[in-house]
Amino acid sequence: MKPIQVGLLGIGTVGSGTFQVLARNQEEIRRRAGRGIEITMVADLDTARARSIVGDGVRVVGDAREVIANPDIDVVVELIGGYGIAKALVLEAIAAGKHVVTANKALLAVHGQEIFKAAHEQGVVVAFEAAVAGGIPIIKALREGLTANQIQWVAGIINGTTNFILSEMRDKGLDFDVVLKEAQRLGYAEADPTFDIEGVDAAHKATIISAIAFGIPVQFDKAYVEGITKLAAADIKYAEQLGYRIKLLGITKRTERLQADGTAVRGVELRVHPCLVPAKRLIANVEGAMNAVLVQGDAVGATLYYGKGAGSEPTASAVIADLIDIARLIDADPAHRVPPLAFQSHTLAAAGGELP
Ligand code: HSE
Repeated sequence: MKPIQVGLLGIGTVGSGTFQVLARNQEEIRRRAGRGIEITMVADLDTARARSIVGDGVRVVGDAREVIANPDIDVVVELIGGYGIAKALVLEAIAAGKHVVTANKALLAVHGQEIFKAAHEQGVVVAFEAAVAGGIPIIKALREGLTANQIQWVAGIINGTTNFILSEMRDKGLDFDVVLKEAQRLGYAEADPTFDIEGVDAAHKATIISAIAFGIPVQFDKAYVEGITKLAAADIKYAEQLGYRIKLLGITKRTERLQADGTAVRGVELRVHPCLVPAKRLIANVEGAMNAVLVQGDAVGATLYYGKGAGSEPTASAVIADLIDIARLIDADPAHRVPPLAFQSHTLAAAGGELP
């Protein structure tokens, strides 16, 4: 069967990881997807660097719109990031009938409703496992593995940069600025690191988690967001002495508030802020740039997902999982085609629930 043809928009850290893992594991991926998955076109402003990564077998262009206009491309993978040009390109790819895979949490947290609605109307998939917690398959866990449950709450360390900073400040007594520079050097931090340290990146991810867990629209503007910039080394030290670790957590949970007349108002909470976590808890011992997400379901109880939340191949792992799912979907008999739950993004638009 003809391989799925993939066009990458942007070939930085995650794009090059995606290229490498697809090449290295191509036989397994072909078996699991039912056909090959090939990157046949790459768009990047730095065409020389892109060419040095992908070699001669892949068409490299400087203009992303050439990828979208190519009728042979089945799936567009958006790895540009940010809300600007990435949004226009994703919407154009959808309008051109392409399936889209994106790692862009900022874009989905802020403009997700518009994007999911466009995809639903066009009958294409927007897949985004890589947007939340890198290599941890938390979107699949919420939508598929835990689909029998009413999710009660989700709480997680979903920003590697801040967890790395807090860990290094505690273990090595290093200053905030020194550790932030190291996180940037290691490639964990966002292009604008204020998104990491002010809690915005974690809030983008928590917004997406909240929408998936509770079937509500993405509503980043309703999130409470507080980062780690006001923490001093002394806070971390005193917390330690009292038997706690300070962790930046993204938290979303169902709430129920009784009114004076006895009726209950149901809602969903969405917040990111530093938390005191008892040192003996598993999540308190998640160190460095690692991520961990706790999910409480009514049937399953508490479940914990741990792994690398950033980096080239861990994030590529999630991108390729989405590509494999799309390959399976394309090959399903159209008469019996049921999109995997992970792709029923339009339910978010339809659910209509609002955060209080
Ligand atoms: N800046 C992000 C982090 C990268 O530190 O977790 C992965 O989304």
